[in-house]
This record gives sequence, structure tokens and C-alpha cells, in this order.
Amino acid sequence: MAHVVIIGSGIAGLFTACKLADAGHEVTVVTKQRPKDSSTNWAQGGIAAILDKTNEDGMESHVQDTLKSGDGACDEDVVRSIISEAGERIVDLINIGVEFEKHKDGTYALIREGGHSTERILHAKDATGREIERALTSYADSHANIAMKPNTLAIDLIQRRHGQPSQGVAGVWCLDQDTQEVLTLEADAVILATGGVGQLWKETTNPSVATGDGLAMAYRTGACIKNMAFIQFHPTALFSPAERPFLISEAVRGVGAVLLDDLGLEAWKAACEDAKSADEEPPSPNPYSFTLRYTPDGSLATRDIVARAIDQQMKKHGTSCVYLITSHLDLPFSKKFPNISRRLEQEGLVLGKDPIPVVPAAHYMVGGVRVDNIGRAFLRDTESPVPHLYAIGEVACTGMHGANRLASNSLLEAVVFAERVAQHLILNPPNTYEGNHPAWRSEGLDALREHGPIINDRTSLVRTMSEEVGIVRSNQRLKRAKRRVDLLQSDVEMMWKTSVPTREIVELRNLCLIGQLVVENALSQSENRGLHYNVDLITDDKREPEPSASG
Ligand code: FAD
Ligand code: SIN
Repeated sequence: MAHVVIIGSGIAGLFTACKLADAGHEVTVVTKQRPKDSSTNWAQGGIAAILDKTNEDGMESHVQDTLKSGDGACDEDVVRSIISEAGERIVDLINIGVEFEKHKDGTYALIREGGHSTERILHAKDATGREIERALTSYADSHANIAMKPNTLAIDLIQRRHGQPSQGVAGVWCLDQDTQEVLTLEADAVILATGGVGQLWKETTNPSVATGDGLAMAYRTGACIKNMAFIQFHPTALFSPAERPFLISEAVRGVGAVLLDDLGLEAWKAACEDAKSADEEPPSPNPYSFTLRYTPDGSLATRDIVARAIDQQMKKHGTSCVYLITSHLDLPFSKKFPNISRRLEQEGLVLGKDPIPVVPAAHYMVGGVRVDNIGRAFLRDTESPVPHLYAIGEVACTGMHGANRLASNSLLEAVVFAERVAQHLILNPPNTYEGNHPAWRSEGLDALREHGPIINDRTSLVRTMSEEVGIVRSNQRLKRAKRRVDLLQSDVEMMWKTSVPTREIVELRNLCLIGQLVVENALSQSENRGLHYNVDLITDDKREPEPSASG
């Protein structure tokens, strides 16, 4: 039986681990903090899926919404195949113990999010990811074939022949954060399931573990990285200057919440007052939404469009947020969205009553390690895979999301590719590498005496990415970002070569590399598509409509 090392304990890593372990393979799951510390655990809205394979119209409509959201850049075959496998993977999740919400008659309760033309998202209230993570960790914990290694930070992949990526990988070096020792973990196959890189931006919905480590490791091993310009900013993170951004799920807009800017809010409030004086019903906030001046889909358009509209509106008005309006809806908000309601209460806000201040925040890495349809990582500049290396979940770029991911398609893509990698390895068990595994270079390294410079460099990197490589870009800003990130990267690489590894320097090294990959890919784009929007590339047909005078 093969021994597989999986890096990451979100939906992608744990689902693969469970499937491989059930088939008798030995799996080690390496994870940076506690097993549940992942974006998966924070997922709110849900997982998009058509359960019934005979529902061809439903499936076609999910395909069309995904293609539209991807702005012409999706791989349609990949989209179709993922959507057609969705129902079976949901059944797998349910068998593992995930409880999705149901109606009283036993049918699944479906919700809607931005870019979806109908309700098709399975969920567990507003904390779907927590329920998925609970079920998967509990299944994995009780499995004799799965060894979970928490507090273990993967640093770099071990190549079967050093400097020859085409020979493939043989394991991974990890930092045991309890002992500060570097471990050499041998593996017949390594699966990267390390998630995204939200921590490269100041405002992010992502947990602290999202520093793009797997992507950076894959790049250093010679893997091909794709589409890094497409960073998704979620339109509605709670604006709370003292706290980290907290996601207000798109499902809230799915039930009818509307985005208003400061002027729209004022105008709508005045109209409500007028209606009250005339003893009439208050007007809907919808016609007062600036989003309608950017897209007929208004507040429920795809994320690229809504986030950009908010960004432009905030810049025009010099404001720090826009508002999510829910008071016109007669819904049991605290029952439907208990998690969000509780968090808002801490800010003195009531969902269903108060305007909720929101801003866009970095949310999802659309690009990643280029993989084929069984999750094999590709070598750069070739059409061949890196032997024994797989990438799944957010770290991978499968072609499904094109230039902008449709809401709730991430958990779906992750679980479908997790199954494909598991089945591939079950049917084609990898051979064991019999050669020597090189030990970690430990000679002549100095313990870093202070972490001050690393913290400063990280702050400076994150500031550069946030200020220069955000939702709306320009050539000048991207070039400035390139100069700064290149300088930081070479400084950090120098420090890295002579230092004993610590989590701080490992993450900073990876973040710098990914910053470079994002900026270089953004500079290489010749058109505005999906999430990439450079004012110097605007052509008339891609120009965002100017808001009218009232905007
Ligand atoms: P993750 O769940 O992020 O797991 C990555 C794992 O890798 C973690 O365990 C981490 O600790 C580990 N790791 C990283 N680096 C290392 C290292 N060097 N060494 C060891 N371990 C490492 N998508 C949807 O489809 N629907 C939603 O409703 C939804 N809501 C979201 C809400 C929020 C707030 C966020 C942040 C994202 C949301 N997404 C949603 C996106 C989705 O949650 C993620 O894309 C998905 O969970 C990624 O799963 P994953 O398994 O690839 O990675
Ligand atoms: C949300 O609930 O708004 C997040 C959904 C997603 O990222 O797919």
C-alpha cells in the first residue's frame, strides 16, 4: 500500500485522506495549526450542486452561470464534468456525516448567491464550512490509516533527484512547531491542499494560515503556476476598523439584501420618511442601489462586478464603506444567519434592521498550480506532470473558475478533484522511492536573533499589495509594486539562506514569491477580464458605465 502525505486539512486534504484511507492506503496529513484552522472551516454560504443527475436543465443552468461568471475564460469541459459529478460528491459528504439543512418534508433547503440565476446551494445555516470540517475531522480522527500531524509546517518539497523536477517528488520537509525541529517526511506521493493566499492583502476574509505556502513550494519545485492575476475580492466584508474583516455571506444578498452607498442610503431614507408621512408602504431600497448603474443584475451580480462597483463608488465619494440594507425584508434573520447575526451584535448592529457597513476584502485565489483533470501538477513550460505531485482545492488551477469564481463553486471543485486524485492513486498506486532522501540543510545556519525585520518586511509587502495590486489596477501601480516586491523578495531570500527556519520567515518567503507571481501575471495581461481590471487596458466595450449624476 502506498504512503501518501497530504499537506492541508481543509475540505480538499481531508476528503482525499478519508477516501485513500478507506481504500487501505496510509495517509499522513500535515497541517500548520489545529486541523480545523482552514478557509473551509470559515465557509459560510454553502456548496453549489445539482443533486439529481437527470435534472439536465438544472445542470445546464449551473454550467451557464459558472461560464458567465468566469467571463469567457473557463475551461467548459472542466466546468461540465465537475457539475455533473456534484451530486455524487454531496452523497459522499453526507455519508461521511455532513448534515445539510433540510425542509420539513425532508428535501434539501437550497439558497442563492451572487451570479446564480436560481437557488441551488446546499448549506448548513450560515456556517456550512464549519459543519463540513466537523464531519471530516471527526471521520479522519477515528481512522486507523490516517496520521494527523498538527502544528507541522511544510517548508519545501523533496525532489527525487535534486534539481531535476521531471524526476518528481519524494516527500516534504516540515517544521515541527512544538520542537522547532525540521522533519523529513518521506512519501510515495505528495498532495498539496494548502488553500489560498488572502494574507497577502491587509483586508482579507481568510484565516491566518492562508499564506500560499503550497503554491510557493510547487513553484520552487518547477511546477507551472497559472492565472495569478485573478484574485477575488468578496464585496461584503464587515467594515470594522478595529477588527479583522468578517464575511457577510452573499447568501444575505441572495435573500434580497441591497447595497447602497452613502448618497443612496440618504435618498432612500428620505423616501421612506416621505412614504411614512403619506401613510404609504416604504419604497424598496433596490432602485436606490448604485450597483444598478453598473449592471442590470444589481447587488446580486457576480463578485468581480459588484466589488469593482463598490471600490469605484467609495473612491468617488471618498468614503470608507458602503451599506448592506436588510430592513425591508421580513425574514427571521437571526435564525437564518445566526453566526453573522451574533458577530454583528458585537458591533451593536442588528441584521434585518440596521444598515451594515461593508467593504470588499481579498477572498479567493482563482489561479494556482496548473493541474490536469486528475489533479496532477504540471511542470513549467511542458505538457508533462511532475511525477508524484498533486494539487487540489484552492491551491490548484483546474480551469473551472476562468477569470472569476462563481459563489459556492470552490467547495464543489475541491471535493470533486479530491475524489479524482484519490481514485487515481487507488487505481495507480505510486512506486516507492528507494533512493536516499536528502537531509535538511542545517549546516551554518544562524538562529534569527530578532523577528523585527521580518515583521517589517511583511507589513511592507502587504501594504504594497493592498495599495498597488487591489481591485482596480494601473500600469504605473503594478510597476511600482514589482520594484518593491522584487526588492523584498531578494532580501528575504538572502536572509532565508542563512537562517534556521521559523514559521515567520517561511511564510514571508512564500508571500514574497507569490506577490511576484501575482504582479508579473497582472502586468502580462493584455485585456481586462473577470477579476483583472487595469485602467490602462480599458477599451470602450469593457469600460464600466459611469454612474449617473445622482451617483
Ligand atoms: P483550506 O480549507 O484553506 O485548507 C488549507 C489547509 O492547508 C489548512 O489546514 C492550512 O492550515 C494548511 N496549510 C497551509 N499551508 C500549510 C503549510 N505550509 N504546512 C502545513 N499546512 C498548511 N467557498 C465555497 O464554495 N462556499 C462558501 O460558502 C465559501 N465561503 C467562504 C467564506 C470564507 C470566510 C472564506 C475565507 C472562504 C470561503 N469559500 C467558500 C472559499 C472556500 O472556503 C475555500 O476556497 C476552500 O475551503 C479551500 O479549501 P482547501 O481545502 O483547498 O483549503
Ligand atoms: C459567501 O458565503 O458569501 C462566500 C461564498 C463563497 O466564497 O463561495
